[in-house]
Amino acid sequence: MEARDLRQTYGSLTALQGVSLRVMPGEVVAVTGPSGSGKSTLLHLLGGLDVPQSGEVWWAGERIDSLDTQVRATRRAGRVGLVFQHHYLLEDLTVLENVLIPSRLAGTRDEARARDLLARVGLGGRENSLPGVLSGGERQRVAVARALATRPAVVLADEPTGSLDRNNAHAVAELLVSLARQERSGVLLVTHDDRLATFADRTLHLLDGQFTDSVPAFL
Ligand SMILES: Nc1ncnc2c1ncn2[C@@H]1O[C@H](COP(=O)(O)OP(=O)(O)OP(=O)(O)O)[C@@H](O)[C@H]1O
Ligand SMILES: [Mg+2]
Repeated sequence: MEARDLRQTYGSLTALQGVSLRVMPGEVVAVTGPSGSGKSTLLHLLGGLDVPQSGEVWWAGERIDSLDTQVRATRRAGRVGLVFQHHYLLEDLTVLENVLIPSRLAGTRDEARARDLLARVGLGGRENSLPGVLSGGERQRVAVARALATRPAVVLADEPTGSLDRNNAHAVAELLVSLARQERSGVLLVTHDDRLATFADRTLHLLDGQFTDSVPAFL
């Protein structure tokens, strides 16, 4: 996954001013920075949830920011995993059906894969539960399984443990990173928590919409 010189403004406010980075399969990159520095904006652009005013986003050799919204959504379901601070599980679908959503969108529904991932996040036996009966940490572990369901090249995680207590946050982040490494998926982990950044291979600091590192982010 690659971003080339992303710039994004909202009215007179500059959220990103020329951000480039590359995340390779199996690589774990943390992004830290103060509130308002552009972390979520960057993640939304990398995930194709929004398109940049200028710059380019590439997934596996394909430029995606210029694709039609529907086409981009289908590509995303197959190639990119997403985990947010809130779990965004659908409350009237079972745990198993929630994990299957991305693969259904991508046209690759794989129930055995979903069951295997649920077992690996410690939720074997809870496939038919509704999200409402799970604990916060369990719900976020379902979100982790869902993010990996289509064997994405990269998982984008925006404060994925921000709604959990310290111990749960550490456990869920460790699970996300170790599963992604086993699967050879890259991870871009936005976090305020320095302890979580220690799971990463490298850490990038965002300040006022720019990386503070003086060398290009992908070298
Ligand atoms: N849709 C939008 N409309 C207007 N301003 C926006 C929009 N999205 C983001 N911004 C602004 O862009 C800047 C960067 O926001 P962003 O959400 O990327 O920050 P962040 O680093 O994720 O912060 P936090 O750590 O608080 O989540 C902020 O000043 C924010 O107010
Ligand atoms: Mg944010």
